[in-house]
Amino acid sequence: MEKILAPSLLAGDHGNLRKSLAEVEEDGRKWIHLDLMDGHFVPNLSFGPQTVADLRPHSKLFFDVHLMLDRPDLYLDPFIAAGSELITIHLEPDYDHQAALDKIRNAGLKTGLAINPDTPVDLFFPYLDQVDLFLCMTVNPGFGGQSFKDYVLEKVQELSDRRKSGGHTFLIEVDGGVGPQHVENCLDAGVDIFVAGTSYYKSTPDERANFARSVGENF
Ligand code: DX5
Ligand code: ZN
Repeated sequence: MEKILAPSLLAGDHGNLRKSLAEVEEDGRKWIHLDLMDGHFVPNLSFGPQTVADLRPHSKLFFDVHLMLDRPDLYLDPFIAAGSELITIHLEPDYDHQAALDKIRNAGLKTGLAINPDTPVDLFFPYLDQVDLFLCMTVNPGFGGQSFKDYVLEKVQELSDRRKSGGHTFLIEVDGGVGPQHVENCLDAGVDIFVAGTSYYKSTPDERANFARSVGENF
């Protein structure tokens, strides 16, 4: 699959999310990354499923929904109904991860599993055959605009080695502090999906296009 640059709407204008979403689509992007926060798993709040549902009819972008929630299992129904196409849940909180993944998949959506920078990558290993996307956070989630943690790329490399040796087809995503200066090392490690909030929205249209080209997006 081609590589993708997925702008994070978290860095858009929350007074006019529809405009920030349209901007990404006009730029020629294919994915939008939507960050949902509960004030428990992460020390911040963003928006909710109603926002996702209300944005859905205004965009053809692929909705990559990242749930930073202590109990994502309790909120899957509204996020599925909202028109999410991929839902990513974290492995750190204590709930039935397998049941949550099954629910997402059975609803016809793609599944994603995420870990924070200091969570061991081994936690992903039991799921390599059944999950569509593994998200390695490159900052501690909660806020945009933090610095990219390079050491996470060791985990990405290990995942991509296992993908190759095991013949798996999952995608690998990085999220947090990602900018054009990280693309080369990320590609070397095996990243497929580049989430970028601050670095994307603060860039000019030309810089955005170069960024997308550098990750290998076709547009
Ligand atoms: C981090 C979120 C990210 C965030 C990335 O809590 O999961 O998706 O929006 O933003 P930047 O690119 O600004 O770090
Ligand atoms: Zn995210």
